[in-house]
Amino acid sequence: MAKGVKKPKSPATPAPASSAGKVPKKGGVKVAEESGSRNAPIINIGIDRQDRAAIAEGLSRVLADTYTLYLTTHNFHWNVTGPHFNSLHAMFMTQYTELWGSTDVLAERIRALGHYAPGSYAEFSKIATVPDVPQTPPKAMEMVRILVKGHETVSRIAREFIPVAEEAGDDPTADMLTARCTVHDQTAWMLRSLLED
Ligand SMILES: [Fe+2]
Repeated sequence: MAKGVKKPKSPATPAPASSAGKVPKKGGVKVAEESGSRNAPIINIGIDRQDRAAIAEGLSRVLADTYTLYLTTHNFHWNVTGPHFNSLHAMFMTQYTELWGSTDVLAERIRALGHYAPGSYAEFSKIATVPDVPQTPPKAMEMVRILVKGHETVSRIAREFIPVAEEAGDDPTADMLTARCTVHDQTAWMLRSLLED
């Protein structure tokens, strides 16, 4: 990314919701505004305002997708039926517990970058790529198929934003997103294995 075309230095300059060319497009996504100083010192962690906005947007999208996938997995934990009930019920619990924990880490990173974290169904539904939970519980193996796609989707979104964090020098976010990709890729593999002959 061209470092020379941005960097508004005044704290009074509103931060853009995204940096042109830096953030993967998803139909005019707008994340929560920067939280402002409110008498506290201006954020000065070595990542400029515009980069923090772009990274917060990426993290917000990963958070929305992770939360949606969490809710889907918990729903399936409740509603799975059939001869594989015991193993899937337990596996889904392990998975939704991990996803739930990760939402907190993602949201608090957004806060550390100076932005408010999205945390409502209305906001999540606007920015999530993972589809909402099915209205009618699917058959067990269809649940597994839906979760494979969900984990792969979150992994793709997270992976797209790793370079945005890296190029801004935000190693903690890049590491966090890399760790999320590792979990989602591994979970997708485990679920996919259930569907293979
Ligand atoms: Fe339970």
